[in-house]
Amino acid sequence: MTDENNAHRAPVTVIGLGLMGSALAGAFLRAGHATTVWNRSGAKADALVAAGASSAGTVAEAVAASPLVISCVLDDAALHSVLDPVAGDLSGRALVNLTSGTPEHARTTAAWADAHGIGYLDGKILAFPSTIGGPEAFLLFSGARDVFATNEPALTALGSANYLGTDFGLASLYDLGIVGLLYGVVTGFVHGLALLRADGIDPDAFLPYATEAMEIMPLADIARQVQTGDYRGREAHLDMQLAYMEHMIEVSEARDVDPAFPAYVKRLMERAIAAGHGSDDFGRLVDAFSVPAEHPSLR
Ligand SMILES: NC(=O)c1ccc[n+]([C@@H]2O[C@H](COP(=O)([O-])OP(=O)(O)OC[C@H]3O[C@@H](n4cnc5c(N)ncnc54)[C@H](OP(=O)(O)O)[C@@H]3O)[C@@H](O)[C@H]2O)c1
Repeated sequence: MTDENNAHRAPVTVIGLGLMGSALAGAFLRAGHATTVWNRSGAKADALVAAGASSAGTVAEAVAASPLVISCVLDDAALHSVLDPVAGDLSGRALVNLTSGTPEHARTTAAWADAHGIGYLDGKILAFPSTIGGPEAFLLFSGARDVFATNEPALTALGSANYLGTDFGLASLYDLGIVGLLYGVVTGFVHGLALLRADGIDPDAFLPYATEAMEIMPLADIARQVQTGDYRGREAHLDMQLAYMEHMIEVSEARDVDPAFPAYVKRLMERAIAAGHGSDDFGRLVDAFSVPAEHPSLR
């Protein structure tokens, strides 16, 4: 990269140099941003300093170094323990918080930022540290539109930068929806591996078929059902699908594998069937997740 290009790269400060924060700072450096870093345990800055970063002695110095401050620490409590004492130093700057949390955390932090004249954007990372800065990494942002617009060129150094809207909680809500999707899939996969292992079958033998099955995940169909409220089971219905869960429970118990995962899905299906929706498709379970009025005893 030429010096002229570097001049167009805004200085960035990264607060928090765990696995993810270090990856973020590394990506900014590779993209040519003057990068200042701070971490509670100072030694984690050493490798980044060797790669060209500046290490700040205090959080206040780190914040003062750049108009754009990125925070990525363990959780919301850690975030506020680090940033609350320097709220005044952050005034007039943009804070993009990439710490995981809830929509309520994001909205509370946004109110705190607003009270201190800080431009706030909440961000969530859907990537592993090793992919940050590459084409696989994608990030979700919500909050101040102007903060996103001004800093989008810098944020794209981390991966694809997607702005969802002005509600500060959106990035977290989408993030947690996707986290649930991913954990649901990998939990089902590991449960399957436990069944296969009990019968002496290698994961490698199973993997190609499991991978192919991912291609038929009916996300678009289910989204359409929930969007339109038309849940009719055109390809499959819950009365039939319940038998799969019963088979999985039976096969699990016969192999001393915990049946809690299929038993939980079975419980949701039974709830929908008991409400008269046995001929509907899987999307109908969206109602089975809503327990308040229909199933007060389950709360
Ligand atoms: N790793 C991933 O794959 C991944 C993916 C998406 C999102 N994230 C999110 O990114 C954030 C950071 O994750 P990570 O993987 O970098 O975790 P990590 O390696 O455990 O690093 C945690 C960071 O938080 C700091 N920290 C913890 N408690 C603190 C406190 N009380 N005061 C000040 N600093 C504190 C740590 O400082 P010290 O070094 O001093 O302990 C360190 O910088 C989390 O919110 C995580 O959910 C991670």
